Amino acid sequence: MIDLGVELSNSTLITSKTDLQGRIVYCNKDFIQYSGFSEQEVFGKPHNIVRHKDMPRAVFKTLWKYIKNGEEVFAFVKNKTKNGQHYWVLANVTPSLDSNNNTIGYYSVRRKPNPKAIEKIIPVYASMINAEKTSLEASESILNTILTEKNLPYNEFIFSMQENLI
Ligand SMILES: Cc1cc2nc3c(=O)[nH]c(=O)nc-3n(C[C@H](O)[C@H](O)[C@H](O)COP(=O)(O)O)c2cc1C
Repeated sequence: MIDLGVELSNSTLITSKTDLQGRIVYCNKDFIQYSGFSEQEVFGKPHNIVRHKDMPRAVFKTLWKYIKNGEEVFAFVKNKTKNGQHYWVLANVTPSLDSNNNTIGYYSVRRKPNPKAIEKIIPVYASMINAEKTSLEASESILNTILTEKNLPYNEFIFSMQENLI
């Protein structure tokens, strides 16, 4: 059996807001509950405070590429808790815009991922992490090869996994 960690309930929405550098400026109660950190411990900290070592750098590179380009992005993310456990989420990250369409920060809402999708993404992330011992490009190329094979853009690939279509 694969260890999926702490499971989110169906109604959980783990929410946070960051400044342009990715420092946390807001988080909701679900964020506090699942991460195990207090508000004081996370406010002003970089979002990698919950980063798990099993997450490939190439996934975060993709995430930042989308949001810096003004687009939303979806990702399966394994986060660590303060006490060393982990929880998987399906994250949606969006730029927050002011009335002049300038990006003033970023916003993320995370919900329960489909466990079947997590079982499929775990070996993909493992091979990406392994490739990152050599280079970030090698890791990106693993992801790109899958997207080419499936003939799907990145966000649609994530959706299709969540809906158990692929
Ligand atoms: C709104 C927002 C939410 C984020 N949520 C997470 C998250 O839940 N977990 C995570 O590891 N990184 C998250 N990140 C990405 C981090 O900023 C960072 O890129 C990532 O943790 C990798 O850290 P590193 O670049 O220091 O290795 C988020 C970024 C933004 C802008």
